[in-house]
Amino acid sequence: MPIATEPARQRPAEILIVDDEEGMRDFLSICLMKAGHNAEAVASGELALRQMATKRYDLVITDLTMPGIDGMEELRRAVAMPSPPLVIMITAFATTDTAIQAMKLGAYDYVGKPFKVDEIQVVVRRALERVDLTSENQRLREQLRGVQSLDGMVGRSPPMLKLFELVRKVAPTRANVLICGESGTGKELVARALHAESDRPGGPFVAINCGAIPENLMESELFGHVKGAFTGAATSRDGVFVAATGGTLFLDEIGELSLGMQVKLLRALQERRIRPVGSTREVEANTRVVAATNRDLEAAVEAGEFRNDLYFRLDVVQIVLSPLRHRTEDIPLLVDRFFARFNREMARNLEGIRPEAMQWFLNYDYPGNVRELENLVERAVALETGTSVSAENLPTRRRSKAPGATPREPELGESGIDLDQAVADLERRLITRALERTGGVRKDAAKLLGVSFRSLRYRLDKLGITVPSGRDMHGERNG
Ligand SMILES: Nc1ncnc2c1ncn2[C@@H]1O[C@H](COP(=O)(O)OP(=O)(O)OP(=O)(O)O)[C@@H](O)[C@H]1O
Ligand SMILES: [Mg+2]
Repeated sequence: MPIATEPARQRPAEILIVDDEEGMRDFLSICLMKAGHNAEAVASGELALRQMATKRYDLVITDLTMPGIDGMEELRRAVAMPSPPLVIMITAFATTDTAIQAMKLGAYDYVGKPFKVDEIQVVVRRALERVDLTSENQRLREQLRGVQSLDGMVGRSPPMLKLFELVRKVAPTRANVLICGESGTGKELVARALHAESDRPGGPFVAINCGAIPENLMESELFGHVKGAFTGAATSRDGVFVAATGGTLFLDEIGELSLGMQVKLLRALQERRIRPVGSTREVEANTRVVAATNRDLEAAVEAGEFRNDLYFRLDVVQIVLSPLRHRTEDIPLLVDRFFARFNREMARNLEGIRPEAMQWFLNYDYPGNVRELENLVERAVALETGTSVSAENLPTRRRSKAPGATPREPELGESGIDLDQAVADLERRLITRALERTGGVRKDAAKLLGVSFRSLRYRLDKLGITVPSGRDMHGERNG
């Protein structure tokens, strides 16, 4: 049978089909996919809710009568979600009663079985027009409020608005960019945005953390090696320079690069050619380089730890991320954004943020910047026992510059000192403080302390420090 194509939308709609009957699922899926939409189908209300908790759908088309959670209950829970999909109900017996009840509960429309292809397509098209209108309205509303976003980054503070403009301007130029900012301010996000807004967003984005790779492996990691170049090099392998050809190479924590490697990197950047370890031939490396650092590179140059010429080569354009405590206007925006995400991901169905909790977020000074805020929201959403996020699960405030933040230096008294004990005490104090600051997330605490995750775990064991229960539940999330 002929199927009318829909007027072009800017992006395909994400549609979830819920029906316990396989034939109906297949029929609807084919219909909708032919109309250019992304359709997924599940066989029960339970599965549907699980899907909705992990992914945002524009539209849900659900059968009413199903074993277990039926269409009505599914509808009730779907509309309570933070950014709910539109729901179209399919009723076998289109009694006005059930239809009216569904509409009252927030269904967008209903279709009685049996229905024709045209019929369902008209209803779907109308629903999607409504979706477009709503998101357009939301975009306009956000614009009015001065909120802007760029590839997943949100902000409305003057420094962030300036940053968005700068990113849009330099992204298409292929100039090398150096991104500076404290830990957790969003350097990697900016690097990804530079790639996404570049003239070749379809090319690879390859990231390498210069601080995490042992010195002896760094050269091969960057430039690759040929078979037999060193013990263990059983096959030849490309480095990140070659892997990122036609795209963006993100050199994270560039300040950690040894002086020896700095020379080699400078050469690669100057000549746009590299030589794999053990090879006699050079290969072309046409890649855009974006570097990031949370160190003061200029000071490192002064101290002779970072080469001046490399600094200038990388620093064609510099993008500086301000610490979150200097851009309070962005805090409510970020809190809302992370709340919506974690509420959905953990299927918590919380109603929102209580005013006293938002006040807490506004007053805090975020030594760990956006990442810390993200962790705090995640924890608050996970641990909340009420219907909306309260300040209960937010840490009692600890200002980073509070008196006593720097441990007093132990004295070498008349009778001497137990050096090992004193060092262990200091170590324990700093580790405990770092864990408090990151809400118990060990990976972030390791960053604050400038040690690897593995090294922190070893020290925790050695010192017998246990991370408070309920706190480390997300510690391994990123690694
Ligand atoms: N403006 C923003 N809008 C939304 N999310 C943000 C923003 N800035 C940062 N984030 C989020 O905060 C977290 C930290 O960001 P990112 O990893 O880019 O920081 P970073 O500066 O690279 O940190 P580090 O120095 O520790 O590597 C990420 O989860 C990121 O998505
Ligand atoms: Mg980073």
